[in-house]
Amino acid sequence: MPKIINIKINNKKIKAQEGDTILETAYKAGIEIPHLCFHPDTEVKANCRVCVVEIKGRKDLPTSCSTKIEEGMEIKTESSRVAKARKINLELIFSEHIEKCGTCPMNFNCKLLNYAKKYNLKITRFKDRKKNRKVYKFGNAVELDSSQCIDCRNCVDICEQQGVGFLKLKNKGHKIEVVPVDDGKHDCVYCGQCAVHCPVTAIQEQLNYNEIEKDLKNKKNKILVAQIAPSIRTSIGEMFNLPYGKIMTGQLISSLRALGFDYVFDVNFGADVTTIVEAEELAERLKNKNFVLPMFTSCCPAWVKFVEFYYPEFIPNLTTSRSPHIHLAGIIKTYWAKKIKVDPKKIVVVSIMPCTAKKYESSRKELWLNNRPLVDSVLTTRELGYLLHKHKIDLTKIKPTKSDNPLGEHSGAGAIYGASGGVMESALRTAMFLLNKEKLKSINFKQIRGQQGIKKAEVKVGNRNLKLAVSNGLGNAKKILEELKQNPREYDYVEIMACPGGCIGGGGQPIPTTPLQRIKRAESLYQIDKKKKIREAHKNQEAKKAMSWLKKDKKLASQILHTKYHKKNKPEGFKIL
Ligand code: SF4
Ligand code: SF4
Ligand code: SF4
Ligand code: FES
Repeated sequence: MPKIINIKINNKKIKAQEGDTILETAYKAGIEIPHLCFHPDTEVKANCRVCVVEIKGRKDLPTSCSTKIEEGMEIKTESSRVAKARKINLELIFSEHIEKCGTCPMNFNCKLLNYAKKYNLKITRFKDRKKNRKVYKFGNAVELDSSQCIDCRNCVDICEQQGVGFLKLKNKGHKIEVVPVDDGKHDCVYCGQCAVHCPVTAIQEQLNYNEIEKDLKNKKNKILVAQIAPSIRTSIGEMFNLPYGKIMTGQLISSLRALGFDYVFDVNFGADVTTIVEAEELAERLKNKNFVLPMFTSCCPAWVKFVEFYYPEFIPNLTTSRSPHIHLAGIIKTYWAKKIKVDPKKIVVVSIMPCTAKKYESSRKELWLNNRPLVDSVLTTRELGYLLHKHKIDLTKIKPTKSDNPLGEHSGAGAIYGASGGVMESALRTAMFLLNKEKLKSINFKQIRGQQGIKKAEVKVGNRNLKLAVSNGLGNAKKILEELKQNPREYDYVEIMACPGGCIGGGGQPIPTTPLQRIKRAESLYQIDKKKKIREAHKNQEAKKAMSWLKKDKKLASQILHTKYHKKNKPEGFKIL
């Protein structure tokens, strides 16, 4: 048991846990201390100095993110000395960050701007010493604007934790700069973890909301269709100051209609299709000794690129199934287009995703049909939040509605795709039904739920024990792959999601995204699952109908349901603007 000690913050008596920092203790007591560079996922570097506090008896103003509490400590978080120092430190930060607020997706949720207001800062009075810095574009997904960087190093740390190491520090002192690595051995996989850990959006998604705004304003003959990812319904509320994990499905759908979309579909439907395709393939691989095992999930494009570039020897292990939003877009532009008698070329599909890598995935030609993309554009949760604020659509006030039919129905299995372990749990519910041909006693696979980096379990299928591994974060994926290099039959089925906690912790999610937020968002997804009448993908009659329609044309079914992977011999690298 940790020792409890007594301290005071702003004259309030607090019983606190020994070993905690001042910032942690204040947070637990509901006292907000302004901070920028601190993020619980990365090592404390204490370099922004925004979180300084005054401690009775000390002359200096220590940083609360790096200072541990001590018995009897008396702390002031907003004294005049603190406010003065904090203001100077914020001014120094603004001197390093060229404001491009007008186009920034965090404009309406920006901590830095809020602090500027609170401490009465004139933010443009500094001569910007970074104005000649470059912008680096990583594929079509992520970009680093060096002129906005405040050198906190979170992105470098997190990319290293991802086992990628595509970012490094150049130079020292005031010339220090974050730059991409250009050695032919490293390549970005577009997970966006750097972006979601950047306190000032110097690294961010490449923005697509402008083109969508134009399309919505001037539709011409186009039919604009939005499709919402499983995880964003439990995170978008945070951009409207709602509690972590608040389920906003109906409001999200209404808000997209209010923006001007003609139809709104739910990617949970696509996830049911993915589950059926993947479970059928798993069952086949288990039955046929000549097929490669373990089978890997493939719905995370950052993970797919990680395999194609860093571990191409494992390409045959990836399931050939496409990912949920690509499946749904394919069904929209074939099955649904036919149903509503519309030329698919008129349909513009926009995916609203927790993810930066989905921008890259949609541009992969393997996932196009007849030389045209199935998903025309991808917006992150942040981009959508920005658009809603800009167009004065209040998510907290809008009346909820349901997604469009006939692609509206989904199972609980589709809902949990956004949480680590959810993809595997969904596939197991269906694969075990396919293999056992009997009703499962329990469809809950709690062993593979939760936020641990690597989860291992065994489940019985017939006479066989299926060995499972679920990993989130690419650093953990690397451990599993190295394990498999030593013992290729260590597992039968492996789920990998590139982001911590799965898509609920995705690179396009609201900033910040902390471990607590990930827990709450995931809990809400499991609540949705629990409340659904059907909780297994193969019970989704509409999904089965669409798939049967596709399967009448073998070539089309293969094009819409499956994909291929390619070894990447050299890095895709980056472009400099
Ligand atoms: S997107 Fe992912 S892989 Fe690319 S630089 Fe950022 S953290 Fe690294
Ligand atoms: S790009 Fe962002 S996360 Fe990276 S060092 Fe700069 S401010 Fe920090
Ligand atoms: S885990 Fe989800 S959000 Fe993260 S890169 Fe993969 S698909 Fe995108
Ligand atoms: S948050 Fe503590 S120094 Fe930056």
